[in-house]
Parts: sequence; C-alpha cells; structure tokens
Amino acid sequence: SNPKWERVEAAKREAALGGGEARIAKQHKQGKLTARERLQLLFDPGSFKEAGALVQHRCNDFDMDRQQPFGDGVVTGSGKVFGRPVFAFSQDFTVFGGSLSESHALKICRLMDRAVAAGAPVVGLNDSGGARIQEGVMSLAGYAEVFQRNVDASGVVPQLSLVMGPCAGGAVYSPALTDFTFMVRHSSYMFLTGPEVVRSVTREEVTQEQLGGAGTHTTKSGVAHGAFDNELDALAGVPCTDPTDRQCPYLDYVVPGSELEAYDMLGVVQQVVDDGQVLEIMRDYARNMIVGFARLEGRTVGVVANQPAVLAGCLDIDASVKAARFVRFCDAFDIPLLTFVDVPGFLPGTAQEYGGIIRHGAKLLYAYAEATVPKLTVITRKAFGGAYDVMSSKHLRGDVNLSWPTGQIAVMGAKGAVEILFRGKDTDMKQQEQEYELKFSNPFQAAKVGFIDDVILPRTTRQRLCQELEVLADKKVWRPQRKHGNIPL
Ligand code: COA
Repeated sequence: SNPKWERVEAAKREAALGGGEARIAKQHKQGKLTARERLQLLFDPGSFKEAGALVQHRCNDFDMDRQQPFGDGVVTGSGKVFGRPVFAFSQDFTVFGGSLSESHALKICRLMDRAVAAGAPVVGLNDSGGARIQEGVMSLAGYAEVFQRNVDASGVVPQLSLVMGPCAGGAVYSPALTDFTFMVRHSSYMFLTGPEVVRSVTREEVTQEQLGGAGTHTTKSGVAHGAFDNELDALAGVPCTDPTDRQCPYLDYVVPGSELEAYDMLGVVQQVVDDGQVLEIMRDYARNMIVGFARLEGRTVGVVANQPAVLAGCLDIDASVKAARFVRFCDAFDIPLLTFVDVPGFLPGTAQEYGGIIRHGAKLLYAYAEATVPKLTVITRKAFGGAYDVMSSKHLRGDVNLSWPTGQIAVMGAKGAVEILFRGKDTDMKQQEQEYELKFSNPFQAAKVGFIDDVILPRTTRQRLCQELEVLADKKVWRPQRKHGNIPL
C-alpha cells in the first residue's frame, strides 16, 4: 500500500460524506437528496467527474479553522447528460447549510469559466442557507463574482437553475440571471427577505411556502419557469422518433365553427410536433400564452402559441414578457421559432395600460424582430391588429408564414370594425358585418400581397413545417455591428 495515495483516498472519502452521516440523514428525512446523489441522477451513469473536492475554506474567525470540511459546501464538476457535455455545481446543505463562502464561490466561478470556454451549459443545483455568515463581505464578494459570470455567460452558454432547498437573500440573484429556473414543490423556496422580516416591516403574515414556494413563483411572480413534484422528476429527462409525413386529421376539425368558441392550442401543438412532446416553460403563468420546447424531425424548436382557451388568447403584459424572454433565449442559442397564432388583440383595460402594456408588448415585438433564427408561423384563426404584427409576422422577417383556411387576418373582428366604420350612420349593421366578414375574415387579403406564403390544410401542418425547417437549417442573417440593442425593459 502507498501511504500517500491512502491519504488522498481518505480525504476523498471524507469529502464524499459532506457534513457527515447525521446531517445526511436529516436531509433525507426532509425528502431531499444530497448534493452528490442529485448529480448522480442528473448525469449519464459514471460520467460525472468532480473538480475541487479537496477545496477548504480559509476563514479563521468564529473557530472556523477547527472545522474545515473538504469541498466547502458545493460539489462542482462536469460530465454528460444524454451524451452531451454539461457542467454543474450542486450545493451541499449538509456542510454549513450549503452557505456560500469565498472558496465555495470560487469553485462555482472556476466551473463557469470552464463551461464558457467549452461552450457547454451550466446547471446549478441550489440548496443553501445563503451567505456564509462567518465570512462577512468575502461571501458577498463571492456572490457578485458569480453574478458577473452569469451575465457574461448569458447568450453564450445556456444556464439552468434547479432550486432544491432554501435560496434566500442575495442567493436568489444567480438563478434570476440564468435562462431557466425550476423549483421542487414543497421543499424549495426563494425570497429576498424571509417571513420574519416581512412581518416586522410590513406586518404581513405569510408562510415560507406562500412567500416563496414553487406555487407562488410559477403562478404569481413569474420567477420560476416550472416546478416538479419531487427531485427525481426534476433531474430526469425525455428522448423521441416520429414520421415527418404524419398527417394530423384532427387538426382539420379543431377550430370551432363559431367565432366565440375556444379550443385548446396546446392540443394543436402536440399534434404537430414529434411524439406529441412539448416541454412547457412557465406553464402555470400567463396561461394565455404557451411557450416551450419541442422537436420537429428531431430538431429542437421553440414553440410560442396564443392559447384561445385562456383570455381568448389576448396578449397582455405577463404573456408578452413570458414570450419575449423565451424568444430571446431561442435566438441566442440558434433554436428555430415555431409560432402558432390565434390572437384577437391586446387585452383592454386600465390595469394593462397603467401597468405599461405598451412597453411590455414592445418587448415581444422587439424580440421577434431581432431574432435571426428560422421563424415559422402558422395562423390558425384570428390574427388581429397590432397583435398580428407582433406574432412573428412576415414584416418582422418571418421566413415562412402559413395560414389555415380558418385564418382571419384583419385589423379587428367584424362586429367591432362595423361599429366604428358605421357609427351613427343609418345602415343595416348585420349586413355590413357580413360584408366585412366576407372581405376580411379569411386569409385571402394577406395571401394576395404575399404576407402569407401559403394557405394549407391543417392536417398537412406537420409535414409542411418539417420540410420548411429542413430548408432553413443554415439560415444566416447579416446585422450591423453594435454594442447591444436597447430592448424596452
Ligand atoms: N452561514 C453559515 N452557516 C449556516 C448558514 C449560513 N448562512 N445557514 C445555515 N447554516 C448552518 C447552520 O448553522 C447549521 O449548522 P449545523 O449543522 O452545524 O448545526 C446548518 O447550516 C443547517 O442549518 P439549520 O438552520 O439547522 O437548517 P434548517 O433547515 O433548520 O434552516 C435556514 C435552514 C436556511 C432557514 C436557516 O439555516 C437560516 O435561516 N440560515 C440563515 C439564512 C441567512 O440569513 N443567510 C444570510 C443571508 S444571505
């Protein structure tokens, strides 16, 4: 036996135990996995290689020199997920509550630097009591170093956060800067100031779960893009195969005969994409807009779709912001955009106007206009007014804009239009409405001027989109050099 090697092995064994058996048992009792167990589930078997397992903190205050666990509360490393390189850090709650020290932050920073150099995604598994209290400003500096790297890596490599325990105070801003944040129901929470501080400052009584649980952040605040029932679901994934020329006869009947009736746009998207699989992002927030990832012939696409079953599919503030950020993510990472349109316009009302719908709606307009990835659009029914322009129209450089025969591309619906056109006039309003409908409630006006490339049978939608996407695979757009645009924030 080699004593030098034995010393290393002993240190690694110690590192693998984090904060020790008792704290691991406590973690399990709370329904939580340990930092290392999570990484084992996330990565392809045997592929994860750790870096920095022997790092220790350098703090001497508060007797900290007497407790110097290996790893310092975060496991960092890289490996493969579905065969592709991925970098990850996983905070270890069993070591000083996963709190972030100078050395802990340095490990995350080094990992991010390596990921950017390798052009691979970074996944953060957050489970931490926040800044390491014993280290004071050193830990705050550590956070800011991570934030700066989150920003520098934005649009360069995808960044994902899985919040699997506490994430409070300054700690929340790293997930907030990443592309997607997912939470685990009932065992994770995120807030800037906790329930006690809230009580003493605003006298509001609120539980941890109500203030910052997955339910709150996936429905009210929009901070999280999705939630999972348990950690196992959060760490698993899905692969697929489906014929390109598959017809979708159901789609021929999906749009109801009556104007006022709704239908489920998610069902339409599921018919079109590979294996009916859509990974919805922010599913429970601004449900009048669907965004998510799917595949066409195995190629990843970003789907954006109005949902006529909720608020008639109107664009409002939350829906615009939700879709805008998603469009920008897809554009940053060369993921083609597939847009399904059934939109009666922007949601009217003082709440929307005072809330700044003009500025927020502009975000979506901006995002589509600046996106240079292949843009495919299908109008299933209404494409009215300014919302028609916004939803990946030809004028925002849509590559392929298709309409179903049920498409209606107009400034507004027949009733509203006739009321304005013939206000105070002595005329047969019903007849005027019928005339307007005949003229505008169809795709012909738009097709006549080439704003629609083709009117297609709904059942052929999948086949057509697959063919168009293949042709567009190498699309390139030239843009003048600039520092960055100024999207209305
Ligand atoms: N710095 C240093 N150590 C911390 C810590 C921090 N920010 N947060 C937690 N810990 C330590 C605890 O001292 C405890 O150590 P021990 O195992 O040696 O007893 C261990 O982590 C677990 O914490 P505990 O409080 O027992 O866990 P819990 O599940 O009951 O509560 C929190 C979790 C996060 C609610 C609680 O630890 C907490 O309030 N932490 C401080 C949060 C904070 O204010 N952070 C600074 C602002 S960013």
